[in-house]
Amino acid sequence: TIPVSTDAQGRLAIGGVTASELAREFGTPLYAYDVGVIRANIRAYRAAFAAHQVDYTVSYAAKAFATIAMFQVAVSEGAHLDVVSGGEIVTAQRAGVNMAHVSFNGNNKSDAELQLALDAGLGTIIVDNRFELNRLEELAAARHVVQDILLRIAPDVSAHTHEYIMTGQADSKFGFDVASGQAHDALIAAQAAPHLNLLGLHAHIGSQIFAVDGFVAEAQKLVDLVRAWDYAPQVLDLGGGFGIQYTDADTPIPPTEFVDALVSTIQTGLADTNWTLPAIWIEPGRSIVGAAGITLYTAGGTKQIPGVRTYQTVDGGMGDNIRPALYQAEYEAVLADRPHAATTQVVTLAGKYCESGDILVERAALPPVVPGDILAVLATGAYGYSMASHYNRNPLPAVVFCEDGQAQVVVRRETWADLVAFDEPYQHD
Ligand code: LLP
Repeated sequence: TIPVSTDAQGRLAIGGVTASELAREFGTPLYAYDVGVIRANIRAYRAAFAAHQVDYTVSYAAKAFATIAMFQVAVSEGAHLDVVSGGEIVTAQRAGVNMAHVSFNGNNKSDAELQLALDAGLGTIIVDNRFELNRLEELAAARHVVQDILLRIAPDVSAHTHEYIMTGQADSKFGFDVASGQAHDALIAAQAAPHLNLLGLHAHIGSQIFAVDGFVAEAQKLVDLVRAWDYAPQVLDLGGGFGIQYTDADTPIPPTEFVDALVSTIQTGLADTNWTLPAIWIEPGRSIVGAAGITLYTAGGTKQIPGVRTYQTVDGGMGDNIRPALYQAEYEAVLADRPHAATTQVVTLAGKYCESGDILVERAALPPVVPGDILAVLATGAYGYSMASHYNRNPLPAVVFCEDGQAQVVVRRETWADLVAFDEPYQHD
């Protein structure tokens, strides 16, 4: 089981607040975050870089969990922000983020999003393809501005992870292909574009990765590329993807190991050039917020199928956490008031959504559970809220931030009325 903290009575606690009390006060389902863990995760990356003589940026990948409060915490710890949509840009603006510290990824940014990015003064736009390169030059020219950019390269490194979250292979919708010469053509075009200032290259190999070798291969690919091009970049951005522990099956690698490997691959790879060592950027998302979050549910009834299994229901499910249904992702669950009680049963934790695949935990070892008990699914801080849906017209849960024994709602719970607020009656005449 993955480690949890408890209060003086041995009940599950988060950020110094008792989980079942959060459930009582704010209702369930509820996303609760330990802000101290978010801070510590960012600090760990920054400390790992600070140990080297290298210019670096740790950009929090907003997609993992994008709210105003989260962005405030990220920047308060010195992180920059990597966004992928107009909505994330506006969230950053509302959070008071210094836009010069924001980078913008994505394979099909709309004109409206590119315009918003230019008008907001985003630090870096990570250009994904030739269409976007040309379009951004036009839009920047129309505004008489020069926009800093990186070129996203498809590094052709296959990371060992679920196919849907594997992004670095050559056959990917993301980034410039190297083998066909498209990446080099883009380099030439970017250098010639009067309203674009090329800072360097970007790559991203995938997500929930535990092996350092994929990142080393990626860094080496970028090094080989800039050497082959005789192009001295100011920035090499290695993306994110550092894995976290969801269950006993996962062995997370400390940030220092990833960072040391990236830094030394780049330092060694460029040692015999007379170039200034590029700044090294990374974009971790999951590893900043994943372990910091839990989701609290109220237990409902059970369905026992003799000789087959017992379904233990909860009041949420695939609407607040699509990952098990989408990626066969595994989680651990505990009874909030007795997280360390001896487990007496293995149940299937099922959600409330009208779909057989709405299973949060296939095999959850738990002590006896009665309806009304609070169950916590652990390590749900990344890609839970950010991928939540209104499926079956269920309102989105609230989000609370907990730190030093204080809890604060940072996203209000939706109501049934909110769900119909955008609907218009149909009138056909
Ligand atoms: N940078 C880029 C360009 C990315 O595409 C991603 C994730 C990240 C950074 C952050 O990766 P992280 O450090 O969070 O692994 N919804 C999936 C994960 C999709 C990740 C997509 N890109 C999931 O729930 O597992």
